Amino acid sequence: MNYQNILSETQGAVAIITINRPKKLNALNRETIQELHEAFNEANEDDAIKVIIVTGSGDKAFVAGADISEFANYNVKEGKNLAAKGQALLFDFIENLSTPVIAAINGFALGGGLELAMACHFRVASDNAKMGLPEVSLGVIPGYGGTQRLPQLIGKGRAMEMIMTASMIDAETACSYGLVNHVKKQEELISFCQNISAKILRNSTVAIGAAIKAINANFKDGINGFDVEIKQFGKCFGTEDFAEGTTAFLQKRKADFPGN
Ligand code: COA
Repeated sequence: MNYQNILSETQGAVAIITINRPKKLNALNRETIQELHEAFNEANEDDAIKVIIVTGSGDKAFVAGADISEFANYNVKEGKNLAAKGQALLFDFIENLSTPVIAAINGFALGGGLELAMACHFRVASDNAKMGLPEVSLGVIPGYGGTQRLPQLIGKGRAMEMIMTASMIDAETACSYGLVNHVKKQEELISFCQNISAKILRNSTVAIGAAIKAINANFKDGINGFDVEIKQFGKCFGTEDFAEGTTAFLQKRKADFPGN
């Protein structure tokens, strides 16, 4: 598919989606959000794609936020609609994909940019990365899930401080908070994410999808995550991947998962 604001490439079983508006520090306008939805959907639907990496073009920014110029004149209804539509189309959408999504944070991840990274299944940052939710400095609050996912990832007190002060943290601090899992030199960021992808690729795709569902259930209101885990665990026993994985172990050989 032809996109205006993103690049989408495939390297083996890994799709790399790059937000490509470097002159605007990859800020998320409506069109980019729509294109990202389509690219993520396409990669998730493609049986040959087992991991998705999302990053920003250039060496300065992952994403410097939602495009402020687009919503500066919005009224209450339009503001509410912006958040609701964005969450459904991109942020909740990514979180619930069965294909693992890694955010490769290659610079500024601010506002909607950090919210995008937080919607991914986990994050790796380059050592120049800076992260923050500066919305209150604009007279608004995070609207793409930031008030929910930041406390989930780093705890309520730290999230309160980051959101109230609107200040940025560096990659090492983000790592010590658990917001990102690893910090790498910028030039090694993507290859490091590919190395993690290679480890993921050895495992059962079907089981990974089930694990994502069970883990996400812990963060959903009114849903008992333990019940979801029991259901997903049970379902695995009916899969060819389970038969192959356990047989391969007992036969002391490497599993060749039929679902992969
Ligand atoms: N929305 C729209 N445009 C943005 C943007 C955003 N969130 N972030 C950056 N840009 C644009 C700038 O307007 C500028 O465009 P211009 O060259 O046409 O004037 C361009 O990207 C480069 O940004 P600039 O501010 O000149 O770079 P900088 O290195 O001086 O500062 C930042 C970098 C990230 C500190 C600064 O761009 C910034 O604070 N951005 C907004 C962050 C934010 O509040 N995000 C939350 C939005 S809800």
